Amino acid sequence: MKTAAMIISTLAVALLVSASVVAQQMAGTPASPEAATPLQIDAKSFGCIRDMKQVRHFYLDNFAGNVDATLAVAKSATGGTYPPGTVIQLVPQEAMVKREKGASPETHDWEFFALKISSDGTEIDKRGFSDVANFSGKCFSCHEQASAQWDLVCETGHGCAPIPITRKMSGALQRTDPRCKNESVSPEDAEALKQLNDLMSQQAPR
Ligand code: HEC
Repeated sequence: MKTAAMIISTLAVALLVSASVVAQQMAGTPASPEAATPLQIDAKSFGCIRDMKQVRHFYLDNFAGNVDATLAVAKSATGGTYPPGTVIQLVPQEAMVKREKGASPETHDWEFFALKISSDGTEIDKRGFSDVANFSGKCFSCHEQASAQWDLVCETGHGCAPIPITRKMSGALQRTDPRCKNESVSPEDAEALKQLNDLMSQQAPR
């Protein structure tokens, strides 16, 4: 009898302990999936641009594993709000990443990245919300011109002033990303890269 009572009380303690573990886990569980723990994004998050999903002339992915939701917004004719974890790149050297909800209300939670890329991999040159700039100005100053439904994604016809980077130029940069396994550079791509180089050397550095 004594043994049976001990077993029962041990069981009761075990149940209590496991119930409190569950309660703790539930308390730590975010109220909604969108209010997830901060995304860990570092240089290793980025790689060959062509390993991402191509939509029209740019590439995207989702660092939180939610690429279908990202694709759905990108393919919607009426736009939408990109889910946390979304990463979009037009050229291998720049990226915009949708951070967790509330990370940066001013930039609609987008973080901008300027990347240094080579066959050795990726280094983060600059990252941040409203201050990161490239050779023609601050990322956010241009991208905030997109009308609300496009969630700061410019493309063409979304309200942003156009940039002098042609589709031939961005395509050539995508096809020659040194982090990818590349074919030899086509004469057309070599010409587009030369024109891009000339264009960039005309811009005053900021
Ligand atoms: C002078 C204005 C301007 C600046 C500065 C600028 N962008 Fe853009 N960006 C654009 C425009 C316009 C497009 C659309 C180009 C197209 O589709 O032909 C674009 C395209 C993109 C895209 C592809 C998705 C989209 O919005 O069409 C990404 C990603 C991007 N830019 C990131 C950046 C990052 C990161 C920076 C800063 C390091 C930056 N941009 C700086 C104007 C700008």
